[in-house]
Amino acid sequence: MWRPPEKVRHAPDPGAWPTVEAAAGSRLFSPLAFGALRLDQRTWVPAMVPWRASDEGFVTDTVVEWYERFAAGGPAAVVVEATGVRDVASGPLLRIGDDRFLAGLERLTAAVRRASGGRTRLFIQLIDFLTIRRRVDRETFLTRFLKITDRHREALQADADDEAVRALILGLDDGGLARILDPRELESLRMGYRERVTDTELAHIADLPARLPPLFAAAARRAKAAGFDGVELHYAHAYTLASFLSAGNTRADGYGGDLQGRLRLPLEVYAAVREAVGRDHVVGCRFLADECIVDGTALPEACRIGEAFARAGFDFLSLSRGGKFEDAQPPKVGAAAYPYTGPSGYECMPSFLSDERGPFGRNVTAAEAVRTAVRVAGFETPIVVAGGFHGFAQAEAALEAGVADVVGMARQALADPDWWRKVRAGRGDAVRVCGFTNYCEALDQKHAPVTCQLWDRSPRKAGRRTPDGKRWMTAPPWEPDVP
Ligand SMILES: Cc1cc2nc3c(=O)[nH]c(=O)nc-3n(C[C@H](O)[C@H](O)[C@H](O)COP(=O)(O)O)c2cc1C
Ligand code: SF4
Repeated sequence: MWRPPEKVRHAPDPGAWPTVEAAAGSRLFSPLAFGALRLDQRTWVPAMVPWRASDEGFVTDTVVEWYERFAAGGPAAVVVEATGVRDVASGPLLRIGDDRFLAGLERLTAAVRRASGGRTRLFIQLIDFLTIRRRVDRETFLTRFLKITDRHREALQADADDEAVRALILGLDDGGLARILDPRELESLRMGYRERVTDTELAHIADLPARLPPLFAAAARRAKAAGFDGVELHYAHAYTLASFLSAGNTRADGYGGDLQGRLRLPLEVYAAVREAVGRDHVVGCRFLADECIVDGTALPEACRIGEAFARAGFDFLSLSRGGKFEDAQPPKVGAAAYPYTGPSGYECMPSFLSDERGPFGRNVTAAEAVRTAVRVAGFETPIVVAGGFHGFAQAEAALEAGVADVVGMARQALADPDWWRKVRAGRGDAVRVCGFTNYCEALDQKHAPVTCQLWDRSPRKAGRRTPDGKRWMTAPPWEPDVP
């Protein structure tokens, strides 16, 4: 995991907690209505993959317990983790690409409704992603995966058959390999093979504009049937639709190049989803206010993306920053690259070891700029900000300053899913404050059940343990709830 070289330590500082009356009169706990989006407060749990789905992508008891636990704490909205729209094996990542997933998803929505007394709106994040393979060792890559071409022959000045050329390449040192392999081959050697939206010589990549709108539309229809209040289209971080939006998308088929071309597929996906679920169902998206990579989409273009999405009719725009493969660290042999290990990954989930700016409210400047652009263009579309929020005054100040309309807390919600209940009850002093250590994030990287480091320090009599028996699967109950 990359950290800013300054390595300044920042302690969380939630500031003063409000009284019951001050909380009741606050912006944070005031309602918001826009289009089909109706929230009883401006609070939000952004999507977090907890690695609790079955290997076939079904909802399990532990998935249900995870979301029930958030709902019991009383946030206005919870976004269910990134959920795959295709019917293809993708390990323990939740899936919605076929009707057989409906029963589990219905169980999940019913549990959240029960636990929140019907108050918490439940959205599901719909994701598509391209193939990424684990890094293999040098010899395996050069003998099994490297396709010998005339370019290698020319570079080696060897007029020989494939196996003879391969033998020459196998004998090269690292410097030699760097001269003979092209940048893409070198990347596959150092990082593992990864598909890109620009690989249009592959039929299934060329076809994405035809294939994705119906896949997302069918997934959204299923989400509606399963009882979700809406969907969040995942246009952020390192995944397919974010890659279409990216400045690095040079597709020449009308779905890349200038911003209009790069927006085309995300807008066509939106149109298909809207058509499938109608105007009375919430359709929002998450996108990047800045890719935070060299030559990536930066804030000025993100403002124009926000305007285009607002004009199209999205019910909310949730912002994130970074989280890209382009600057990720090379994985160990046997592991796959992970888009949160480089500087852009740091921007996505900033930790307490930071630069002078620190991890708290790190996205507010970008969110404010996108919101202003959307408002100046004449749209009232709500903007959701997240990134280092943990205190009431901090969230309230962001709303007051017009940074956003809704404040998301991901890791703080994980550390203490009772945050909203405690703060509204005038018991902010009882909040278990997130230390922004990214212990949870390291588990996510290993695809291990995500838990919080702070849970084990709380007194606790019962609960479900992780399969290794060492950690708790859900946050401990709030002491007043313990009989
Ligand atoms: C364990 C974990 C899993 C995450 N999974 C997702 C995800 O599925 N989709 C997504 O858009 N963001 C995901 N994120 C990013 C969060 O939604 C959020 O943007 C980020 O953690 C910054 O907000 P915070 O400072 O409130 O935690 C994840 C974060 C964590 C810690
Ligand atoms: S492990 Fe807990 S305290 Fe550390 S960042 Fe994650 S939620 Fe916060």
